[in-house]
Amino acid sequence: MSDIILGIESSCDDTSAAVLCDGKLYSNIINTQAIHQKYGGVVPELASRAHQQNIVLVVREALEVAGVKLKDVSVVAFTKGPGLLGSLMVGSSFAKGLSVSTGIPVIGVNHLHGHMFAHFLREKDEESFVPVYPFICLLVSGGHTQIIVVKNAMDYEIIGSTIDDAAGEAFDKCAKVMGLGYPGGPMIDKLAQTGDSNRFKFGKPQIKGLDYSFSGLKTSFLYFLRDQLKVNNNFIQDNLNDLCASLQSEIVEILLDKLNKAVKMTGIKEIAISGGVSANSGLRSALTQLGGTNNWQVHLPKIKYTTDNAAMIALVGYQRFLSGKTDGLDVLPQARLLFSP
Ligand code: KG4
Ligand code: ZN
Repeated sequence: MSDIILGIESSCDDTSAAVLCDGKLYSNIINTQAIHQKYGGVVPELASRAHQQNIVLVVREALEVAGVKLKDVSVVAFTKGPGLLGSLMVGSSFAKGLSVSTGIPVIGVNHLHGHMFAHFLREKDEESFVPVYPFICLLVSGGHTQIIVVKNAMDYEIIGSTIDDAAGEAFDKCAKVMGLGYPGGPMIDKLAQTGDSNRFKFGKPQIKGLDYSFSGLKTSFLYFLRDQLKVNNNFIQDNLNDLCASLQSEIVEILLDKLNKAVKMTGIKEIAISGGVSANSGLRSALTQLGGTNNWQVHLPKIKYTTDNAAMIALVGYQRFLSGKTDGLDVLPQARLLFSP
């Protein structure tokens, strides 16, 4: 009999469900909530309501696309945290409700663990090139920026973290200041393609070791614009592509600087990136180039697995299921769930 995992992700503004059969992905349905765009950021209350509206449909579609019946599911893996509590509660309550009515066990998965393992996802008969342990994962999302040494599927060590904003937050906040919509990262990426990345310079953080800081860059960007707008009311519109390219290049440089340090400190040259910001074209090409120069084995996730999705949650659930560790129905969602093995 096959091991069939139903994954559910609802930590932020994507309602997603996926089906994995014996470790291969059969479906991955994502409903990205459009409602937040007009508010320039995720509104937690609206996110919970949208998850409530979407979850039954998304789960049903994931099962239908996979050609799987609910009664055949071996385990329901859901995102336990970190994330917005109201959003997490929708996914976890739904998973536990399924468990009560069908007897299928549940597994609560750490969302960041999911992002880290997006590299190991493969569809039905697909073969792919996966990171070899131990590898370094640069996890860059809207809520996190971490350098992680991944020793094996269940053993990892965080060796660098942001002390304030995450890289995705820096993209989103600076985009908001420029009047771009939410999420700002993809828009900055697009506008940066035709901009001059050397045109403007903003404050670089001076943080020792492998930790990151992005709040200074955000403030320096804000003050720079404020000063320029005093002279030219249209400064942002007149220089939008160059502003985006310069900002993106500075964020990428900050990210890769510490990653490079981490490689030197650990001697590990197997490198992966993950999380929403790993979709950034500037980061992907700069990392590929840096890796080529230094003889690193670089792993870039498929774009569709960079942002939030239930496939990655199902995959971590599968690994836990194989090790025989399911959770009781007392498992609770945790907004600030720590990232530890
Ligand atoms: O991983 P994710 O979907 O959600 C979290 O777990 O936070 O990441 C979302 C973040 C947002 O900040 C978004 O602006 C950023 O990823 N992002 C990007 C790009 N695509 C998504 N940032 C820069 N360039 C992109 N192409
Ligand atoms: Zn995420």
